[in-house]
Amino acid sequence: MRLSSLALAAGLSLLRVAAHDGSQQKPLGDEKKGSQPNIVFILTDDQDLHMNSLDYMPLVKKHLIDRGTQYRRHFCTTALCCPSRVSLWTGKQAHNTNVTDVNPPYGGYPKFIRQGFNNAYLPVWLQQAGYNTYYTGKLFNAHTVENYDAPHAAGWNGSDFLLDPYTYMYLNASYQRDRDAPVNYKGQHTVDVLADKAYGFLDAAAADGRPFFLGIAPVAPHSNVQTLLFDDIGDIEQAAVFSPPIPAKRHEHLFGDARVPRTPHFNPEQPSGANWVRRLPRQGPDNVAFNDHFYRQRLRALQGVDELVDGVFARLGRLGLLDSTYVFYTTDNGYHIGQHRLQPGKECGFEEDINIPLVVRGPGVPEGRAVTNLVTTHIDLAPTILDLAGAPIRADFDGEAIPLRARDLEAAVGSRHEHVTVEYWGFAIGEGKLFGDEKSRLVLNNTYKALRIISKTYNFYYSVWCNNEHELYDLTTDPYQQHNLLHPSALSESNTEPLLLDGVPLGKVVARLDALLLVLKSCRAQTCVRPWHALHPTGNVASLHDALHARFDTFYEHELPRVSYGRCELGYLLDAEGPQWDVDGLVYRHGARWDEWV
Ligand SMILES: *[C@@H]1O[C@H](CO)[C@@H](O)[C@H](O)[C@H]1NC(C)=O
Ligand SMILES: *[C@@H]1O[C@H](CO)[C@@H](O)[C@H](O)[C@H]1NC(C)=O
Ligand SMILES: *[C@@H]1O[C@H](CO)[C@@H](O)[C@H](O)[C@H]1NC(C)=O
Ligand SMILES: *[C@@H]1O[C@H](CO)[C@@H](O)[C@H](O)[C@H]1NC(C)=O
Repeated sequence: MRLSSLALAAGLSLLRVAAHDGSQQKPLGDEKKGSQPNIVFILTDDQDLHMNSLDYMPLVKKHLIDRGTQYRRHFCTTALCCPSRVSLWTGKQAHNTNVTDVNPPYGGYPKFIRQGFNNAYLPVWLQQAGYNTYYTGKLFNAHTVENYDAPHAAGWNGSDFLLDPYTYMYLNASYQRDRDAPVNYKGQHTVDVLADKAYGFLDAAAADGRPFFLGIAPVAPHSNVQTLLFDDIGDIEQAAVFSPPIPAKRHEHLFGDARVPRTPHFNPEQPSGANWVRRLPRQGPDNVAFNDHFYRQRLRALQGVDELVDGVFARLGRLGLLDSTYVFYTTDNGYHIGQHRLQPGKECGFEEDINIPLVVRGPGVPEGRAVTNLVTTHIDLAPTILDLAGAPIRADFDGEAIPLRARDLEAAVGSRHEHVTVEYWGFAIGEGKLFGDEKSRLVLNNTYKALRIISKTYNFYYSVWCNNEHELYDLTTDPYQQHNLLHPSALSESNTEPLLLDGVPLGKVVARLDALLLVLKSCRAQTCVRPWHALHPTGNVASLHDALHARFDTFYEHELPRVSYGRCELGYLLDAEGPQWDVDGLVYRHGARWDEWV
């Protein structure tokens, strides 16, 4: 039968990967070292692309957007700080890090340590490749004044970390340098404190002369949060009191007229989305006015970051390093305010939360407001940086290097993957103020898997929620994701004439997207990059377009199980996650093998 040959082939391809998995570090030739560029990586916190925050950053525009390339289809894969950052620094999807939350037991710094990543993440590999490595700002959540030395984060020649519970206090931050005790900066603006630390590391790096990596991770424009240590409380809502970000004094009167863009999906008359999002009430005028204030505070708080970018480039220029340094500018995840009636926050699969800024400037990177439409993700960044460093790309990476130079960008058109794997487990929380008789903005059961898939002719978002609701948006015709084509009301409207997508009936497209998601939700390594290959091991299908061929109808519509959940969980518990490709390529459900289940 079809499936056993499929399983066999998938098993074989996994064996092939495993064969050169692990100790693939080969020593670097000296000739390579001479050409290793420096890398400055600026990582903001919760910065949006879709509410136009970059338009309010003239110095980012001057140094990065005007002199580099913008990746307009860059995505994070989990729209929450800690999982997103762990994925970024390890090059793995969250289902392969199993760091899926900001706090224990499913996430945070202790989980990062427990999963063994302190010896297997980017700075460690960069040091092995001969780099000096420096970092200042927020590394992970639940990295605290109590656990920072148990153990210290590995891989850094110099570090100065923001620590919980003061990470998000703009005017009362705690930073912890190298092996020293934490230092409190009461009354000083956290981004200004950070800028000085970043400049200091830049000077030290330049003085040493070896190639360097410098990570700069300001907390702006994240909400200001008064937190208690989660360990003491164990309840995210009790442990954190959110308020709008606080700008530096010199920026607090800027942008008085700015407000959240009034796009068609801003606080709409009709609800949209699925699950809890579809049940959100429309926001009243006081709520909208407060959220516009929240928006302005974000833009103001970003001004310190804008100045920091200017300061970094001024120093790189003075130190004579501009021609030998790549500068990356991105964020951990996006942000929404008011779209789909959502209160300020992230954690969703909508474009606002997952499609985020990425701008790169450096030797050979096209400049002059260059924009590329290649699909890239945070999982691709670790391989990108190792590639720049001339270090071997690890066989267990779930992504592939992002092309940076003009020639490579051109070569990737038509061959680069067209999908993004999006996953989320656990809570969502509104970070604004409560209005009327609202008691809580905490939502549990915000667990879902999704994919984005984008080509010249199609542009979809497909998701399955843990309550087994489905979403499908055709972003070509519905760029604001207001019409869920799989909501029961949409399906009943269209039951006379089948909806067509890209000339193919809706049901046939969904069958392919679901199969793709089935592979992606538990993929490892190259299967995450070339998922169609798992479904078509002979290699004759490399895209949704190829898979839509009518000769595959039976396979997709009748031979594969559908993605579904057994129940909602706050973490990655396999027995709640329905059918899987397991490590042998077989499919099972609730612990039963595929062949027992059909
Ligand atoms: C940075 O750390 C690495 C790994 O410990 C070490 O080999 C290298 O010499 C250090 N660089 C400096 C400038 O001390
Ligand atoms: C500011 O930080 C210090 C610790 O560094 C802490 O003791 C104090 O309570 C904090 N202030 C507020 C208002 O949270
Ligand atoms: C969350 O999911 C669980 C299991 O599916 C269910 O029992 C519970 O009622 C759900 N809670 C909410 C708030 O929807
Ligand atoms: C992920 O971590 C949680 C918490 O430690 C654990 O219960 C779960 O089994 C892990 N999931 C997988 C797939 O290993």
